[in-house]
Amino acid sequence: MCGIVGYVGERKAQDFLVSGLKRLEYRGYDSAGIATVSKDNKTTLIRAKGKIVNLEEKLAKNKRDDHIGIGHTRWATHGEPSETNAHPHQAGSIFLVHNGIIENYKDLKAELKGHEFKSETDTEVLAALVNSFYKDGKYPLINAVVQALKLVKGTYGIAVVSEKNPDELVVARSGSPLVIGVGNNETLIASDASALVGHTKKAIYLNDGEVALVTKNSIEIKTLNAEPVSAKVEEIETNLAAIQKGGYDHFLLKEIMEQPDSLAETLRGRLNVKDGTVRLGGPGLSEAELRKIKHLIIVGCGTAYHAGLLAGYYIEKFTPEITIETVIASEYRYRDAYIPKDSVALIVSQSGETADTLACLREIKKQGTKTIGIVNVIGSTIAREVDGGTYVHVGPEISVASTKAFTSQVIAMVMFGLTIAQAKGVKSSTLAPYVKEIAKLPEEIRKTLDSTAEDVRKIAKDYAKYDHAIYLGRDTAYPAAMEGALKLKEVSYMDANAYAFGELKHGPLALVDDRFFEMALVPKGILFEKSISNVQEVLARGGHMIVVTNSEIDLEVENVVKITTSLEIFAPLLMNLISQLFAYYVTVAKGYNVDQPRNLAKSVTVE
Ligand code: F6R
Repeated sequence: MCGIVGYVGERKAQDFLVSGLKRLEYRGYDSAGIATVSKDNKTTLIRAKGKIVNLEEKLAKNKRDDHIGIGHTRWATHGEPSETNAHPHQAGSIFLVHNGIIENYKDLKAELKGHEFKSETDTEVLAALVNSFYKDGKYPLINAVVQALKLVKGTYGIAVVSEKNPDELVVARSGSPLVIGVGNNETLIASDASALVGHTKKAIYLNDGEVALVTKNSIEIKTLNAEPVSAKVEEIETNLAAIQKGGYDHFLLKEIMEQPDSLAETLRGRLNVKDGTVRLGGPGLSEAELRKIKHLIIVGCGTAYHAGLLAGYYIEKFTPEITIETVIASEYRYRDAYIPKDSVALIVSQSGETADTLACLREIKKQGTKTIGIVNVIGSTIAREVDGGTYVHVGPEISVASTKAFTSQVIAMVMFGLTIAQAKGVKSSTLAPYVKEIAKLPEEIRKTLDSTAEDVRKIAKDYAKYDHAIYLGRDTAYPAAMEGALKLKEVSYMDANAYAFGELKHGPLALVDDRFFEMALVPKGILFEKSISNVQEVLARGGHMIVVTNSEIDLEVENVVKITTSLEIFAPLLMNLISQLFAYYVTVAKGYNVDQPRNLAKSVTVE
């Protein structure tokens, strides 16, 4: 979602701000803007609707060599995408950019006198509120920001500059990330460390309730209650190659193709194939605590939710006397669900910032249940607030559609399940086949991608004409089918839905006609015959079917994608690679923006 950048130093601020905003493009946005302040207290505010190229066109006519400034990409929440609603917002000499939502902005607005509001945004209200404490020299900038934030209800990451002081920048966060990059004679601000890569390796992640006064060579952090905070400088691990396309046309394809390596990173140091055991340090649960677990709640949104569903199917196969409930975070946070004693919650999130998932984490913790994060982004809010966790370590995922994170989330959770089973004394002959297959997965993923990508590309072109798709599977292939349908709908805008094969006769079979095609995941050894009967039922009604399988099949279907693999347990994960490639190639055939689908954002930091 929205992105923030800021700069104070000796270089031209405009240059860093624009390049930083480009790095944050992947998060999704519909307008962008920057404000820079000159040494002689003049501000240049440039904003544009649409993509950053529109902003760049305007900047080309307004080149400034100012050394301080803030920038923003906006994903509309209050008010339509437009230049007027784009950030930065100005009130008096204050310029402010904001991620998050000010829930009480209407009440605050009603109280604010003397500011003529130009936009429909909650952010302009915050700018006016800061200005009400700042104008007439009432408070220094940082204190004016603190006074304003004390009145605010909601979430924010903000960066503020004043035209009157071209040396200082103020940032603050509550529920929306902010990173301060420590440079040489320069300090950089971003809502996501990827904007800082290549500029500095040193970063300070602000915590909720903290505010910082930043100059080119000083960073002073305190809480809203004026308690000083000693900053912890952390290393940014991401390198430039990880956030570039590396020869691929799109990040989505790069990230699909990266999965052999990204999964290998997830597994690194965690598997002992010889003993058939798994070792995870991060969750921080003792053998006795693991043994006691009777109930797992898995929480996530979208792809992370599907990963949880699939992992749940696996874990219950090898872990005795355990119940597993995988829940959608936006629902669960408002349910009156009872959490039994001896439960552990897995909080699944690639970004580690998803608002609904974070809210669930906080609710679950309140009830005294242990929380374990399955997170990708290091240092993200969820990663910091869980009791323990396992990073999936897949590197930056830039394409809005999640791919490599899904595969690794599933396996990270299965590995957590295996550690529970080990502690509960499950025979190693039961668990070893899982460990063995997991160890082989990176190579099997590589083989599957290499051997099928070209066929999938050819097939996908023929199906780009459809408006509707049905994805089908049973057992572990069912959540894999759900994920496949989500991938197709979010990038190709086709209406794609998944059904458990067994549900067909209970309604969805009525849909089958020439408007639809069907994608069936049919893994060998997993209720195979039953799935084949269901395939026949669809064919008998004139279905246009693609079957993805690792078995021989003798059926008159339109297309078969055959995966050759020694794996059986995790074959559905390999089938999901076909769904990922299919979604990619259909979308390329349709000519849509594969990496930044309309209306979507990479990290959903508002409810
Ligand atoms: C789909 C997709 C989304 C995310 C969801 C959760 O491709 O990317 O459905 O999976 O928004 O995001 P995280 O994992 O960051 O919590």
